[in-house]
Formats: sequence, C-alpha cells, structure tokens
Amino acid sequence: MVKKSVSTLALDTSKATKGVRILPYAHLIYSPTVAMEKHAHIYPTTQKVTKEDRARLLMQKPLLIWFTGLSGSGKSTLANHLEVTLHQKGLKTFILDGDNLRTGLNQDLGFTDVDRRENIRRVGEVAKLMMETGLIVIAAFISPMQKEREMLRKRVGAEQFFEIYVDCPIGVCEARDPKGIYQKVRAGEIKNFTGIDAPYEIPKTPNLTINTENCSIPEALTLIKNSISERYLDIA
Ligand code: ADX
Repeated sequence: MVKKSVSTLALDTSKATKGVRILPYAHLIYSPTVAMEKHAHIYPTTQKVTKEDRARLLMQKPLLIWFTGLSGSGKSTLANHLEVTLHQKGLKTFILDGDNLRTGLNQDLGFTDVDRRENIRRVGEVAKLMMETGLIVIAAFISPMQKEREMLRKRVGAEQFFEIYVDCPIGVCEARDPKGIYQKVRAGEIKNFTGIDAPYEIPKTPNLTINTENCSIPEALTLIKNSISERYLDIA
C-alpha cells in the first residue's frame, strides 16, 4: 500500500509485525539502531594542521561564551557589545544568535522540545567547529533546558565553555518587548512560548549571572570582562 503525505515520513519497521506504522518527524527521533547504521562506515580523518596550530596562528585561546535567558532578557544586546569589545582588542570572534540561525541552518526547526534540543545540538556542533578554527564564539540562545546546556559543556569541554545566565523577570522582558513578540503571544498568535507556556530552567551553576533589570549595559560588560579574564583570557 502506498501512503502519501506532505510531510516527511519514516517507517518504524521494528513494530511492523502486523503492518507498518508511519511516524512523522521520525528523523528527529533518536534511534540507536539507525544511528549505528549511519555511523557504521564513517572513518574520521585527522588533519596535519591541528586546532592548536590554528589557535596559535590567531594568537588566542578559543572559547565558547554562551548567553542563556528569556526572550527579551538582553542576550543578543550583551553578545553584540561583548563582541565589539573583544574585536577592538584584536581578538577574532563570531556571534551565533538564535533568531539569525533560525533563518538559515535551523530554518526547519520550530519550538517543540525536540526541535529546541536539535537547535542547540546543531549550534553546539557549529560552535565546536568554529573553535577548532581558533575563534572565540559568542552564542545567544534561549536554550531553556539544563540538560542541553550540560550537553554543550561536555561537548566543547568545561574549560572552554563560559555560561552566562541573563537573568531578567518575565514581566520586564514583556514590558521591553523589543520585537513585539510578547504582544503576539498574548494575542494567542504564538504557542509554546518560553516563560509563558513553555518552560525555562534556571541554570544551576552558570559561570556568571547578570541581572539586566538592575544593571546597565556598561556595568554588565565590566562584570563579564572581569569574570572571563579571571578564568580564561585577559580582556578586562
Ligand atoms: S531556543 O529555545 O531554541 O534556544 P532560540 O534562541 O533559537 O530558542 O530562538 C528564540 C527566538 O525565537 C526568540 O527570541 C523569539 O524571537 C523567537 N521565537 C518564536 N517563537 C518562539 C517561542 N515559541 N518561544 C521562544 N521564542 C520564540
């Protein structure tokens, strides 16, 4: 029998004793069997020029500075100001921002738990590659779940991961509403919105917390620069 659908379909053959179950979005469901098959004949190569060589050439230590927090909390603003500071010091940087990546690499992803997880996984992989080129990567993503942020820390290495929790009450984010998005949420146009009807798990042990309700941009930048300088590289 032929089944047609407008969306991607996959066959769950493990349950196909009496028939075939069709699973939408199965490409996003982790399947150890499929993963093993996919990786069965992959042989990663090693390059003669190493990540250490590249970092040496750029004369800097690669780092992932990860901003997490609600929409409107100030992640992108702080990420931008921080990049300007680093850039002016001659450091080589790049910003990965949720809204920007969702117009390209991640345009196929929405805001379900599964899609958000995949969003963060992909960004983590991109950040890791960029760090292997020697860059200092600054990322601004809501990244609402502790588990995903822990996954990032493990994947890039705790010594190269600096997590900044941009702490701002939802009421203040909503009052700021720089994109007019909370207004749309309240009008019922957007569902599953972080902090309203989707969860945000406050980071348990971030490297730094910045409260943007009570802190100006210059004050926040000073805190960030001092904290990164203490632990990683001198940018104060
Ligand atoms: S994350 O949850 O997967 O980390 P990400 O940082 O990439 O989110 O994207 C967040 C941005 O998408 C928000 O700043 C907002 O502009 C927009 N957005 C659209 N729909 C939602 C939603 N349901 N929840 C949160 N943000 C949303």
